[in-house]
Amino acid sequence: MAAARLLRGLLFRPWLLPPPGAPLRSSSTSSSSSGWEFLSVERRGREGSVAVVRLERPKALNALCEGLMSELGRALASLEAEASVAAIVLTGSERAFAAGADIKEMAPKSFQECLGGDFLGGWDRVARTRKPVIAAVNGLALGGGCELAMMCDVVYAGEGAQFGQPEILLGTIPGSGGTQRLTRAVGKSLAMEMVLSGARISAQQAQQAGLVSKVFPAERLLEEAVALGERIARNSKLVTAMAKEAVNTAFETTLAEGCRAERRLFHATFATQDRKEGMEAFVGKREPRFKDQ
Ligand code: CAA
Repeated sequence: MAAARLLRGLLFRPWLLPPPGAPLRSSSTSSSSSGWEFLSVERRGREGSVAVVRLERPKALNALCEGLMSELGRALASLEAEASVAAIVLTGSERAFAAGADIKEMAPKSFQECLGGDFLGGWDRVARTRKPVIAAVNGLALGGGCELAMMCDVVYAGEGAQFGQPEILLGTIPGSGGTQRLTRAVGKSLAMEMVLSGARISAQQAQQAGLVSKVFPAERLLEEAVALGERIARNSKLVTAMAKEAVNTAFETTLAEGCRAERRLFHATFATQDRKEGMEAFVGKREPRFKDQ
């Protein structure tokens, strides 16, 4: 029980409550009505358990300016603090998921400013989100856009999506995990090809390479991502967070340490009511009723 309480505390961290004015209480908010400038947040699925965060900076193909990234961080923090949200879908427009960091904003920066201000330092907020995040990528996912998609737990793509790390064409390199996450996802040869030449890959190539798990017609992409979010929402939020942590450990440690961490998390599920309920429901031939306890 103590372990369950501890995990619950970690999952719903009080310091992640929305900052004053953050608009996440309504079932559906749009950028125009909600106060967000660069995104919208909408609730989908049964009891609004899936939050859809849409990047909305169409004139710049959703280029990731500091304002957008700061709003995204606030939106994710608020959604993490909302107990009814089980999964988050991150998407863009049909033309662009995101065309990368905002080059116009970045162009005048000096080395001293980048280092002193830890430029891009906070961009991994998506990767640090404890609830499952599904990227629904239509159109271009370039540079920071591709990196943002790779920070998500699952990447679904529309048939016309393209992924690339074109920073080399601008005289720089990926700065938000591109060289690391892409290499882990697709292996050294393809990652090198993309990072060194700036070449893009299609949704189909990205799926073959393991960057994307499923490809859908563009118009079905969002509903499929929400459907996955709903399937995830049927399970225990508490145990889902533990499963996510266990998979993520695979990227950060040795096999032996990863298996040890997994076993400890597996043991910890036995401190939850939901593990008991899930197994009793199976034995009793009925559907489980998880209470996130
Ligand atoms: N930053 C700022 N503005 C961008 C942008 C970006 N990354 N990508 C596109 N835009 C803007 C364009 O400047 C243009 O705005 P204006 O109309 O005001 O000129 C508008 O979006 C539409 O773009 P285009 O007219 O260029 O549209 P296109 O269809 O001809 O080309 C594109 C689309 C191939 C995506 C092209 O815009 C492009 O190459 N963009 C840059 C992609 C890129 O290099 N991304 C990596 C950025 S660096 C990075 O992300 C570092 C990191 O690791 C975090």
